[in-house]
Amino acid sequence: MPSLVSTLFLAATAAAAFVHPGALHTTKDFQRITKHVTDGSEPWNTTWTLLTSSSYAQSSYKPNPQAVVYRGYNGVNSENYQYLYRDAAAAYQLAVRWKITNDKSYADASVNILDSWAATITEISGTSDKFLASGLYGYQFANAAELLRNYSGWSKTNQTATANMLNDVFATMNNLFLEDHNGQNYYHYYANWDLCNIASLIAIGIFTDNKTMFDNAVTYFKTGPSNGALPIFSIANYTEPGSGKILMQGQEAGRDQGHSTLDFTLLGVVAQQAYNQGVDLFATYKNEILNGAEYVGKYNVGYDVPYTLYESYQGNQTVISNSSRGTIRPGFELLSAHYGQLKGLNSSWTDAYRDWVNTNSTSGVEGGGGNYGPNSGGFDGLGFGTLLYRLS
Ligand SMILES: *[C@@H]1O[C@H](CO)[C@@H](O)[C@H](O)[C@H]1NC(C)=O
Ligand SMILES: *[C@@H]1O[C@H](CO)[C@@H](O)[C@H](O)[C@H]1NC(C)=O
Ligand SMILES: *[C@@H]1O[C@H](CO)[C@@H](O)[C@H](O)[C@H]1NC(C)=O
Ligand SMILES: *[C@@H]1O[C@H](CO)[C@@H](O)[C@H](O)[C@H]1NC(C)=O
Ligand SMILES: *[C@@H]1O[C@H](CO)[C@@H](O)[C@H](O)[C@H]1NC(C)=O
Ligand SMILES: *[C@@H]1O[C@H](CO)[C@@H](O)[C@H](O)[C@H]1NC(C)=O
Ligand SMILES: *[C@@H]1O[C@H](CO)[C@@H](O)[C@H](O)[C@H]1NC(C)=O
Ligand SMILES: *[C@@H]1O[C@H](CO)[C@@H](O)[C@H](O)[C@H]1NC(C)=O
Ligand SMILES: *[C@@H]1O[C@H](CO)[C@@H](O)[C@H](O)[C@H]1NC(C)=O
Repeated sequence: MPSLVSTLFLAATAAAAFVHPGALHTTKDFQRITKHVTDGSEPWNTTWTLLTSSSYAQSSYKPNPQAVVYRGYNGVNSENYQYLYRDAAAAYQLAVRWKITNDKSYADASVNILDSWAATITEISGTSDKFLASGLYGYQFANAAELLRNYSGWSKTNQTATANMLNDVFATMNNLFLEDHNGQNYYHYYANWDLCNIASLIAIGIFTDNKTMFDNAVTYFKTGPSNGALPIFSIANYTEPGSGKILMQGQEAGRDQGHSTLDFTLLGVVAQQAYNQGVDLFATYKNEILNGAEYVGKYNVGYDVPYTLYESYQGNQTVISNSSRGTIRPGFELLSAHYGQLKGLNSSWTDAYRDWVNTNSTSGVEGGGGNYGPNSGGFDGLGFGTLLYRLS
């Protein structure tokens, strides 16, 4: 007979059950998205057309699973991780296309990608870069799986195989990286390394209903000791003259703008996934993510921002880095939608960088994997935010 304590514990566990689908997108989101698509209104229609013309969103898509994935040349094995990032993008785009159209052929193609990887992959290797692969493609695969979670054509056995792959290959490495940082001290790896591994644990925790995994990743993000954790990520706050707005210098500002902006793509993923489970990391530390996005947005659309010397593990970074300033990458639609449209906060610089990216994208809207070149950087964010996040 259960004791009172264990009964209460069970009740608390049940109350804390996860919302599904509830990583990057919820059922309510798909109601809004589908309405925009049905209406044919802009800018959603253009983004939907972009998605449906993507080579990664076709039901004929065939995956290329690898037993051992190599990211980073270790002197012996050629890199083959492009197969993983392409297939992760395809699994996600096809799952989204199924959710919007309800056409099973897209779900089947997406399921086939996950099933074939789950049946094949045993390890991610290469150099230290393997920990970028575990984080980036972990959160991407888990998001595809989460969307397909209730697809009747996905057998429970094979869902379990995907859960096992995500746990055994990806989450194991995500946890290892956050604990050990590949044997380096906490300041060695720049923030994006932590952020993608945190994003992956949150997504896998949601897909596999693992509250311990989810909670640990959220706690690490809020109070952890390394560069991706919010307290360490924040280098300096400045009050913007005139607006009184806080602009926050992030950890990679003195490195280059490609990574500075990537951090905010990943911060958006971390916060959106948690938000859909009732944990508001967007609001944490007085909207720290917004304040940082305002700083990086303002600088990347061509305005000067203040800067404080940062002592990186590579030496002192005395000025903000203008390397790849104005870089084009997806991710800021999510941040603008949440802070500006949903919460009604002033996100003008975040919006400006979102618009900058869209203006400089061939389609005029935020695309995803395949729309930003063939290299890995074009696949770091899942994208299509103009369709998936924009409210109005
Ligand atoms: C799956 O979830 C969607 C909402 O995202 C819902 O419309 C649909 O009915 C569900 N399908 C099944 C088989 O439960
Ligand atoms: C949506 O875009 C498609 C493809 O460009 C176009 O054919 C269609 O007319 C657009 N829908 C509306 C309502 O404008
Ligand atoms: C499960 O996945 C395996 C490996 O891809 C596949 O061969 C098999 O057909 C799948 N089973 C079902 C029921 O879909
Ligand atoms: C849940 O996550 C924790 C922390 O990552 C892990 O130790 C545990 O094995 C996971 N549980 C299952 C059932 O996979
Ligand atoms: C910036 O402000 C936030 C919110 O008050 C705070 O949590 C963070 O520690 C500040 N950063 C620095 C470097 O003081
Ligand atoms: C880096 O900057 C700190 C703070 O200004 C200073 O103490 C340190 O000597 C500098 N290190 C180098 C290598 O210049
Ligand atoms: C970029 O920064 C470097 C180093 O501070 C500086 O010498 C250079 O003039 C800057 N370039 C532009 C285009 O601002
Ligand atoms: C939002 O902030 C910008 C500066 O960051 C300012 O120019 C603008 O007036 C503000 N908008 C509102 C509605 O307060
Ligand atoms: C991006 O778009 C802006 C206008 O919105 C333009 O001024 C800028 O030159 C473009 N940048 C690139 C890299 O194409």
